[in-house]
Amino acid sequence: MGQFDWTPDEYLERIRSRIPRYDELQEEAVKAIPFPPTRVLELGMGTGETTRRLIEAYPDTWVVGLDSSPDMVFRARQTYDDVQLARMEDPLPDGPWDLVISVLSVGDLADEQEQALFRRVREHSRSLVIGDSFAAGELARVVEWCDGEVVWQAEGLAVVRATY
Ligand SMILES: C[S@@+](CC[C@H](N)C(=O)[O-])C[C@H]1O[C@@H](n2cnc3c(N)ncnc32)[C@H](O)[C@@H]1O
Repeated sequence: MGQFDWTPDEYLERIRSRIPRYDELQEEAVKAIPFPPTRVLELGMGTGETTRRLIEAYPDTWVVGLDSSPDMVFRARQTYDDVQLARMEDPLPDGPWDLVISVLSVGDLADEQEQALFRRVREHSRSLVIGDSFAAGELARVVEWCDGEVVWQAEGLAVVRATY
């Protein structure tokens, strides 16, 4: 998202005004989950919009979230039990995971960081779902790096799914 410094209180209003199809992107990311997951890792959890929908769809799922913003972690911990202050470039919490999911969060990583992240995800997770906005050419690169497929696309937004 570039220069992400919104507070948790203003986050939803600002993201919806910047990305009018934000809620649709969230819904499509959850729809893309390839099988009912038991253990999920969410990268860049923010205020927990994806997790909320995911738990609604799969009530027995245990979600571990991580985010590099102390304010976001503080907010998410008010609702979710396992939220860690961590960067996705660093070693991930111990798996194995049924699913790693991330919405609007991996796009600011450098190309090499993103590729390294996808390699680590592949070693520790049975599936990956990425929902994000993609510049021209970027979507094809992400699909190749994570060995995934595009399952939804609209107005510069897309959801990519990989099953390992
Ligand atoms: C645009 S918000 C998306 C939040 C949430 N996933 C959603 O869909 O509403 C991006 C989030 O990723 C977090 N983030 C950005 N870079 C990160 C990194 N390198 N490691 C972990 N979290 C990061 C930010 O703090 C922020 O909460």
